[in-house]
Amino acid sequence: MNVLFLNGPNLNLLGQREPGVYGRATLADIETEVRARAAKLGVEVEFRQSNAEGQLVDWIQQAAGRFDAIVLNAAAYTHTSVALRDAITAVGVPTIEIHLSNIHAREEFRHRSLIAPVCRGQISGFGPASYWLALEAAAAVAAP
Ligand code: DQA
Repeated sequence: MNVLFLNGPNLNLLGQREPGVYGRATLADIETEVRARAAKLGVEVEFRQSNAEGQLVDWIQQAAGRFDAIVLNAAAYTHTSVALRDAITAVGVPTIEIHLSNIHAREEFRHRSLIAPVCRGQISGFGPASYWLALEAAAAVAAP
């Protein structure tokens, strides 16, 4: 089983970015832990980050036939991107939406996710553990 982890804008700054909201772990720290847990589950993972919406769309499109599930922290694009939503729908790879912070407990503009209706589910608010929980969820939804 292959799971693609996609990370959107500003997540490259984790560790230094608003640590009170996002914690001190860097994206590299999170990737290391995801890889360790994935190895125990026998799951292959690919981990990518981009600040560019079009790059994320390209990666979602290219996931068809290559990955069994996508774990997507679309970051700010969660709240704005029709393009990401359309890509998820077009490709049909089961996608799990994740967030480090609880978007429903934050500013009003973060409460709306344009991608939530086309994702299998949403995990929000568990810090880096949102990534491990999503790995388990991906293994569950992508099980042959
Ligand atoms: C985020 C939440 C988004 O609202 C925000 O724009 C981010 C990170 C999270 O992981 O908590 O950049 O996706």
